[in-house]
Amino acid sequence: MRYPRKGKGRGLRRVRSNLARVAALSVIGLVVLARSAAAQGDATKGEYLFRAAGCYACHTRPVSGARPLAGGRAFETPFGTFYSPNITPDPDHGIGRWGLADFARALRLGEAPDGSHYFPAFPFTSYSGMRDRDLADLWAYLKGVDPFPEPNREHELNFPFGFRFLAGLWKWLFFEPGSFEPDPARDVLWNRGAYLTRHLSHCGECHTPRNLLGALQDDRYLAGTLKGPDGKKVPNITPHSGDGIGDWSESDITFFLQLGVLPDGDVAGGAMEDVIREGTGHLTDQDRKAIAVYLKSLPEHPGP
Ligand code: HEC
Ligand code: HEC
Repeated sequence: MRYPRKGKGRGLRRVRSNLARVAALSVIGLVVLARSAAAQGDATKGEYLFRAAGCYACHTRPVSGARPLAGGRAFETPFGTFYSPNITPDPDHGIGRWGLADFARALRLGEAPDGSHYFPAFPFTSYSGMRDRDLADLWAYLKGVDPFPEPNREHELNFPFGFRFLAGLWKWLFFEPGSFEPDPARDVLWNRGAYLTRHLSHCGECHTPRNLLGALQDDRYLAGTLKGPDGKKVPNITPHSGDGIGDWSESDITFFLQLGVLPDGDVAGGAMEDVIREGTGHLTDQDRKAIAVYLKSLPEHPGP
């Protein structure tokens, strides 16, 4: 049955139906992907992408002897504490019963195999733009790691955030499944940098400020925040010369992403130490250069 539509609701409904269409298309894409040759991903390439994407640090407890990827790492947020799940191929406690389509659905749409919604503490918001080929390679790597039967720990969220349907509402408001569209006006290196920075290495998940509901403020992309992960300050990495990294040369940036040493000789700490140790420190020089080129091209923002 159809009801007459009018005013503001129509715009919203149009947005929603467009989103539904995009989501439906991406699901069809996923099914095609799962059946295609790309489904035979390359685990070696997958391991590289896995590092670039920083999956390890979030899904492993930061204590010595912790089982890699068995989850249980805590994330303090204004909404409560999230615990990362076990993503080893254990069939009962990990994701051993998943196929590529389930995996792609989780990273692209933020949806579990049973259709429930993930919280954006899992940065599917950035991974959503990952290329099909990269998803298949990542999956090929992940399904080959050692399984471990560590049960998942429930999140401890403040009322009312513990209701998972609210994650669906959040997505309805703030999330649009992405796809990376290279900019034809830019060269290959810049486009590679854009893909890494925005999607795979998700620099904005920490360096971009969020609104009260935890959504990234895209108009302040990479402008830094006083309340990053664990409530700590995250610096501005736009080319702003007072507040950001406008005075850094391209090689200052690549050196930092490789070794964690700032131009003044100081050493990166906090969450960035993990990002470098587990992630950008393992990238090729070319990929680090791509990130530097992309960062230098961005609009400047003051702050935080
Ligand atoms: C910033 C931390 C963080 C990063 C980085 C991260 N994850 Fe997660 N991931 C989480 C959290 C937290 C959840 C739980 C979300 C929820 O319960 O709604 C999660 C959930 C998942 C799930 C769903 C598991 C299940 O049992 O339903 C998969 C699969 C997953 N992540 C894979 C990955 C992969 C692959 C990467 C790298 C490409 C990655 N994650 C990077 C924090 C992270
Ligand atoms: C998990 C959160 C997180 C992610 C993801 C992250 N960063 Fe950082 N970054 C930080 C924090 C926190 C600091 C401050 C470190 C410190 O206090 O020593 C920082 C510092 C930096 C700095 C030094 C800036 C300065 O002025 O001191 C640069 C450059 C930087 N990050 C670039 C990046 C790039 C490029 C990416 C993506 C490849 C990235 N970061 C991803 C949290 C993150």
